Amino acid sequence: MSILILGIETSCDETAAGVVADGHTVLSNVVASQAEVHKRFGGVVPEVASRNHIETLNPVIKAALTDAGIGYGELNGVAVTQGPGLLGSLLVGLMAAKSLCFSLGIPLLAVDHIEAHIYANFLEEPQVPFPFVAMVVSGGHTDLVYATGHSQFSLIGQTRDDAAGESFDKVARVLELGYPGGPLIERLAREGDPAAIPLPRALMEDETLDTSFSGLKTAVVNYVNRARQKGEDINLADVASSFQAAVVDVLAAKAFAAASRYRSETLLLAGGVAANGPLRQRFAEQAALRNIRFIVPRPALCTDNAAMVAAAGYYRFLRGDFAPLTLNASADLTLECSKF
Ligand code: KG4
Ligand code: ZN
Repeated sequence: MSILILGIETSCDETAAGVVADGHTVLSNVVASQAEVHKRFGGVVPEVASRNHIETLNPVIKAALTDAGIGYGELNGVAVTQGPGLLGSLLVGLMAAKSLCFSLGIPLLAVDHIEAHIYANFLEEPQVPFPFVAMVVSGGHTDLVYATGHSQFSLIGQTRDDAAGESFDKVARVLELGYPGGPLIERLAREGDPAAIPLPRALMEDETLDTSFSGLKTAVVNYVNRARQKGEDINLADVASSFQAAVVDVLAAKAFAAASRYRSETLLLAGGVAANGPLRQRFAEQAALRNIRFIVPRPALCTDNAAMVAAAGYYRFLRGDFAPLTLNASADLTLECSKF
């Protein structure tokens, strides 16, 4: 008999629920994005996000069960994102998960959002070998993680300022493209020249596995402002393409430096920015050259979703690592102390 875990994800602006069988087979993956709601603000408004989660979550959970073709009684556990994320939003998911576990008499599984992004890879490749290095690139994080076993994670590098996704979103705002910025920049960049504008690649030559993207964002802002002041035409596609090339260069340099330093034969990429085509291509090419096994989830499993939460929860279920119903959300939960 399969073990069926319902995942619930409400850490930011996606209301998501999904059912995964045995930690790898996605039976359903329902994501209701609030992007349209937050678009006019140019970013996520926390209070608006939590109100939307309250309205949307129950129908999303019902849809996830319907799509999976199962009833509540067939679930073996509920996995929920405990953090990090927006506190009000996390609490909505947590309350729903706790209520379900209480009424169904099944275990609650507390999942770290970054851990969940990493586990999206197990939905593609159930036998991901340990140890591995994972790079998680999202709107809030640019983390390099060394994993020696399930939930045995060490943070070996992180951004010192903006996250990679955040820099895509901020540059998109400067270019007046809209929100979220990543996919819009990627599309526009296809028409541009990645070498058109010289932009900085911070810390790239340094020993550190940390990254920094605020200088890159400022360089783009300065370039655009200077051109606007002089009344010059700006080739937006060239700006988008040059910016994206700088991010890809830095992320690839750090990820492969980490794989080499930790002698890891496997490299995982995860998080919303991992949906980026040129980034995936660069990682695949570099991995092939270095004989490293590269795994990345399909784009729909890179951006926030609940199937990845269910996948991470499955391994906690197997270990009997159940959370109490008094579990609280943690806005600044960090990977190495994802305990309660
Ligand atoms: O993982 P995610 O869905 O949510 C967080 O945990 O933050 O990541 C969202 C981030 C946003 O900053 C978005 O602009 C970026 O991922 N993103 C992309 C692409 N798709 C989403 N960045 C670059 N290229 C993309 N195709
Ligand atoms: Zn995320």
